[in-house]
Order: sequence, then C-alpha cells, then structure tokens
Amino acid sequence: DAGTGYGAAEGCAGGRAVSGEGGSGKILIKGGTVVNAHHQEVADVYVEDGVVIAIKPNIKVGDDVVIIDATGKYVMPGGIDPHTHLAMEFMGTETIDDFFSGQAAALAGGTTMHIDFVIPVNGSLITGVEAYEKKAKKSCMDYGFHMAITKWDEVVSQEMDIMVHEKGINSFKFFMAYKGSLMVSDELLLQGLKKCKSLGALAMVHAENGDAVFEGQQRMIELGITGPEGHALSRPAALEGEATSRAIRLAGFVNTPLYVVHVMSIDALEEIAKARRSGQRVIGEPVVSGLTLNDSVLWDPDFSTAAKFVMSPPIRAAGHDKALQDALATGVLQLVGTDHCAFNSEQKAFGIDDFRKIPNGVNGLEERMHLVWDTMVESGKISVTDFVRITSTECARIFNIYPKKGAILAGSDADIIILNPNASFEIGAKFHHSRLDTNVYEGRKGMGKVEVTIAGGRVVWINNELRVTSGSGKYVSMPPFGYLFGGLDKADSTYLSGLRAPVKRSTTSASS
Ligand code: URP
Ligand code: ZN
Ligand code: ZN
Ligand code: ZN
Repeated sequence: DAGTGYGAAEGCAGGRAVSGEGGSGKILIKGGTVVNAHHQEVADVYVEDGVVIAIKPNIKVGDDVVIIDATGKYVMPGGIDPHTHLAMEFMGTETIDDFFSGQAAALAGGTTMHIDFVIPVNGSLITGVEAYEKKAKKSCMDYGFHMAITKWDEVVSQEMDIMVHEKGINSFKFFMAYKGSLMVSDELLLQGLKKCKSLGALAMVHAENGDAVFEGQQRMIELGITGPEGHALSRPAALEGEATSRAIRLAGFVNTPLYVVHVMSIDALEEIAKARRSGQRVIGEPVVSGLTLNDSVLWDPDFSTAAKFVMSPPIRAAGHDKALQDALATGVLQLVGTDHCAFNSEQKAFGIDDFRKIPNGVNGLEERMHLVWDTMVESGKISVTDFVRITSTECARIFNIYPKKGAILAGSDADIIILNPNASFEIGAKFHHSRLDTNVYEGRKGMGKVEVTIAGGRVVWINNELRVTSGSGKYVSMPPFGYLFGGLDKADSTYLSGLRAPVKRSTTSASS
C-alpha cells in the first residue's frame, strides 16, 4: 500500500534516518541511461551527502553504498514544477494540499522541487512571505517562492527590493483577472514591470481580461446559466488572448522579459509565438490540464464531476490541447507547470448554485511527469532529452538555479528519478498521495513509470512506497538577473541611441 510509509512519517520529530538503507547517504545508480537536456549516455551515477559526485561507466564502490540497478531505464533530473499553490487561502477557503501532502504527492510522481506563489497579506509582501515561510516548515522536498503583487505604493516597491535581495525571490506575478480580489490595473502592471526590470526579476502574468470576465459572468447569471459550464462560457479564449497581447506589449514597451503562466488557448499561444518571432523575450508555460483535457467535462450533468475541472483560465474546447502540445514540442512554449491548486468536493460544492463561487483550481503535481511523458514522449512528439528540458532544466535556467537544479552533473543536487519506459502508470484518487478526494485525471493509464525518486540525496520513493520526512525540504534561494536578462542593457542603449534627436525650436514665437 503506497500510503503507509507516508502517513507514518508525518509528524515524526527530529528527522528519521530515511536515507536509511546503509544510512551513509551514499548511493550508486548503476547502468541506466543518464539523460540531461543537452546529452544522454549509459553511465553510473554516484551520489554522496545530497550531491552528485560522478557520472561515468563502471563506478566501483564500497559496502556502505546503496546500489540501485537502473539497467534499461532512464535516470533523469527530478522534475521542477514552476507553478503550484500549496496551503493557499483563496476564494474563501484554503487548498487542501499543504507543503507536506502536496510535496509528498509530487515526490511519488517524480517531481523533486516546486516554486509556489506567495500571496501578500493586505498587500504586504513581508507579512505574506513570513506566513509562507511558516507554512513551508513542514516541507519534505526543496521549494522556492514567486511573489504575487496585488497593490502598488512606495512600500510595496521597497518590499520588492527586500524580496529580491534578502529573501531569494526573483519573480513577481501580476493577476490581470480576479476582479475585486487579486486583479491589478494596467497602471500597476506598468509600474511593476519597470520595477522588475530594475531588479532583474522576472515578471509573470495571469493573462485574462478581468473586467470582461466580470461582464461575462453577469451575462451568464442573467441567462440563468449557474452551473460549471457557465465558468467556461463566461471567460472565452479571446479574453485570454487580449490580456496576453496587452501584457506582452507592455513588457516590450518597458523592455523587460515576461513569463506568461498557465497558457490555456490558441489565442494566447499565438500572441506568444508572434512576440518571440519579433525577438521579444517572452516565456510561455502551458500546464498539464491544458495539455491533456478539454472542456466537455464542464457540461457533465453531475455537479461535482464538472466542478472539479473549474480552473482559470478555463480548460478549453478540444483542439486547444493539441495546439498547446505542438507549441511545446516546437519551442514556442518552453516548460510545463501544473498550477496544482487542490480543492476537495466539499469545497467545490460552495458553488453548487453559482459557478462564480466554485473555488478555482485542479490537481496535477503528482501526475505531471507521467502525463507529459505519455502525451509528449510516448506519442513521439519529443525526445527524452527534450522531456528533461521542459519538465526540469528550462525551469532551473529561467529561475537562475541551474545547474544546482535541473541537471545530473558533478556538483548538482542529487534530485534524481528513475523512469521505466516499459512499466505502466495509472491515476486514481484511491491511490494518489494528494489529500484530494477526486482527481481530474481519474482512470488515465499510460506507459512510463517513475519507479524511484531521490530527493536531496535520499531515496524517498521506491517500490511504490514513500519515505518522506517532514522538515527535510530546503528553501532554494533564486538570484536575480537570470539568463533572460543577459544583454538587455545593450538593447536599451541601442534603443536610446536610435531615438531621433529632439527638434531644436526657438523660444520666441514665429508670429512676433
Ligand atoms: O484556477 C486557478 N488557476 N487557481 C489558482 C490561481 C491562479 O490563477 O493561478
Ligand atoms: Zn536592494
Ligand atoms: Zn493564475
Ligand atoms: Zn496558479
């Protein structure tokens, strides 16, 4: 039973020696195909004290080393999920996965690090980050933070400085939707983009036109459409395309890189493709739900079946999923997140009479690696090296923590998975590790199974059993001025020197 080891470990004080088998913290992974984003080769991987020491064939070791056979399997960097919401207070409730249960689920699915969104408290970034530091104390894997910006004044601007220089946060998210709660104005977005540029921090946007969404919701209620399908109907893809375009153009005007989270539609991805073709630095993040689901589920006659799929931007009509996969395969979109934001059936039922009250969010943290493998690699759309790039390496590069994370190189953190391409996975609420009572991927099966997860140099998932310890996860500080900022100052001076000289006009009036 997969649940046992995990249930027993929670609350276990003082950190049980789960590095266990041998207890030395030394592991040798033998005979697998070691895959990095740039290269793959058959080799052994030797790990000591949480760090990769060597990658080469036929490594010889002593008796105190745990040996794991990986013959015929892929040895890859653990997944990094750039987009999660653990223990988030949202829409009058709190997500049911916290930093322990969500991370335990992640590890069972081959993800060894995630970046979670800190939500400010009454606009205060400091109060917000302190609350999240507390929530994250129970972590069993490594994690980083993005910070949301929900209001603007001199204090917030100074706090952004503190986040970057003292708190290890190098990205800020602006919500262009959720009118009345998290939504920001264009004026705020513009100030935020300027500040991000000066700090070398990456601006991220939730791109939907929040005013139009509000209007669309009113329209549905007036039409008597109160069920989950009203959620999709009230916020069509055009509103996502519009906001994506607006954010891209404002970021272009400021000349700062932009990261568009949860790209759900053709409308949005085409704006990103167009901007990238013109040379603008725009990153697009599709999420697993957008890549693998379509909106037919929102018309299910059973409320709770339909409501579990409510997220924003909404899951789109069939066709958008395939277009997102193709964009990911060809580099128009660069990395895959989940937007894991889990609410159980009881919480989803808050909106039984009104879709506007259904807490927005779906699961995916545990399922991402398997579903991306099945959808993208098994289908022949991408190579195994590209799988590593879109699930791990590119995220580490963007958020400036490569090659500590996102690679199996000498000196990298020992966050490693072993995936057996000839074994199958199956998804179901009965055996997943999230606290969620449902699963939007219920019943999905496919090839490619994460059989072993090593996090921080410890075997935390093996033989379908979790061996996690609350408190063992470390905060990963992310420095500013990542690769997306490289050379940007040159582009700025080119812009300045390209401005036409001001016209010299005499101060006396021509008519006098
Ligand atoms: O529905 C969603 N996506 N919930 C989480 C909050 C967000 O917009 O990322
Ligand atoms: Zn500073
Ligand atoms: Zn969002
Ligand atoms: Zn999100």
